[in-house]
Amino acid sequence: MHPNSGKIRLDRYLSEQTSYSRNEIKEFIKRRVVTVNGETARLFDMKIAPGTDAVSIEGNAVEYREHVYLMLNKPAGTVCATRDELSETVLQLIPENLRRKGLFPAGRLDKDTEGFVFITDDGDLAHRMLSPKNHVEKLYYAELSEPLSESAIELFASGMTVDGGEKCLPAKLTFPDPSDRKKVHITLCEGKFHQVKRMVHAAGSEVVYLRRIRIGGVTLDENLPLGAVREMLHKEVENIIAL
Ligand code: URA
Repeated sequence: MHPNSGKIRLDRYLSEQTSYSRNEIKEFIKRRVVTVNGETARLFDMKIAPGTDAVSIEGNAVEYREHVYLMLNKPAGTVCATRDELSETVLQLIPENLRRKGLFPAGRLDKDTEGFVFITDDGDLAHRMLSPKNHVEKLYYAELSEPLSESAIELFASGMTVDGGEKCLPAKLTFPDPSDRKKVHITLCEGKFHQVKRMVHAAGSEVVYLRRIRIGGVTLDENLPLGAVREMLHKEVENIIAL
């Protein structure tokens, strides 16, 4: 919906733009803590213009966004799921002001993997990012139990077969510090289950630490601490599916 394409009910606006339930929203309006352009809102069904009228709850602005695009620096121990009985999910790390219904992690990292997770409520963009035919690159930094030799570069590039007989697309292996061959960068353009770990295993070593540092053309913000979430810039959202 375009910001000026039409007016909608206040309660619908608040429901779409926040993670509050319909009942919570009703309560806010009843308690007279919702304002529209500085005036206290009294009616659930008052019409507002998304993107034009300034709406707030308890003094906190509820800004209009068609979709939300977030960069998370995932810590180990959290799971890329919308719910989990046992572990903290990546969605639970999102601060209240960035939460809204429909957010999900676009692509999964293992529980023990750190780094860049793209979280959005834009199903179309997530689908394009994840679609195998778009070959969106993901760059990983890994620390290994055993050093890899130069010949592993060719093995990764050739499209290796991992355990279970699955054939991988060609991947790029580099050594960011040529004097330490237990530290590698691996670029994949697909996302098979445990793919980095299985490729490294097939090359004769094991992953002991794994972090995703780039998706498409967007590098994880080095100023974003582990566990922190920030909104992505418009340019970054465009670049997430850069090939
Ligand atoms: N490959 C893996 O093995 N694990 C991840 O979390 C991501 C890629």
